[in-house]
Amino acid sequence: MVVYLKTPILFSSILRTCTFTTLRRMATINDKMEGMRQSYEVESSISEDLTVKDPMELFKVWFQKAAEHPDILEPNAMTIATCSKDGYPTSRYVLLKGLTEKGFRFFTNYESQKGKQLIENPKASLTFYWEPMHMQVRICGDVEKLPEEDSTSYFHKRPRESQIGAVVSRQSQPIPNRKYLEDLREDIIKKYEGKEIPKPTYWGGFVITPVTMEFWCGGVGRLHDRIRFRIPALSETINSDLTKEGANGWVYERLSP
Ligand SMILES: Cc1cc2nc3c(=O)[nH]c(=O)nc-3n(C[C@H](O)[C@H](O)[C@H](O)COP(=O)(O)O)c2cc1C
Repeated sequence: MVVYLKTPILFSSILRTCTFTTLRRMATINDKMEGMRQSYEVESSISEDLTVKDPMELFKVWFQKAAEHPDILEPNAMTIATCSKDGYPTSRYVLLKGLTEKGFRFFTNYESQKGKQLIENPKASLTFYWEPMHMQVRICGDVEKLPEEDSTSYFHKRPRESQIGAVVSRQSQPIPNRKYLEDLREDIIKKYEGKEIPKPTYWGGFVITPVTMEFWCGGVGRLHDRIRFRIPALSETINSDLTKEGANGWVYERLSP
């Protein structure tokens, strides 16, 4: 049996067991990391005078470019950062599964860590990074559950094996071993043979309505381009030297990289 001690004690004992070999390996990895550097040989590509002034529209333009890029296999992969009330943020990748009039939607298990956190604290941050294009989009916004009928409709569009996976996986719960999951999958396959698989109540979508959206483009010598859109406060006096008028209630600013 393994007895886990409280974190600080465990951490100090890990430090004590660092052998010469592990320290040397760490130093080699660190040397490598310090030398890892890509230069983004592109001149400024977000022009001062944006032609698309609504960030949702600009997102569609950038996304389309990423979707057509031969070296980007999952242009809709994005990290979503959530935060529980204890203040620890956590992030992970999910797949963007559509834009709605409210914002960005994705699907998950409502009882997973992210699901619980989003229900407890309905705010999130999304990040897309399309590496071959040196482009990043960051979104911060308010989160809502999608209407049940939208989740049900999308659930039935998924391949049958993904539907089975959603029924089998009580996402983020500890399980005894891999076989437990595989046995459960076999049971579910048998149970629903020849029948429609009902969407589990604990599975569905969320939509993130953006309050800020930042577009970043890698530039020469780390002088990247950053344009951040935001919805100004009603009482705000706009300094037109720094803040430009966007479309549909947005304003935007160029930020120092
Ligand atoms: C590229 C990629 C796409 C993913 N897409 C999803 C997704 O759309 N929904 C989902 O629940 N998990 C997805 N995952 C798994 C999540 O990253 C994560 O492991 C899982 O949702 C559990 O996260 P949580 O315990 O923080 O809730 C994806 C992982 C990767 C690497």
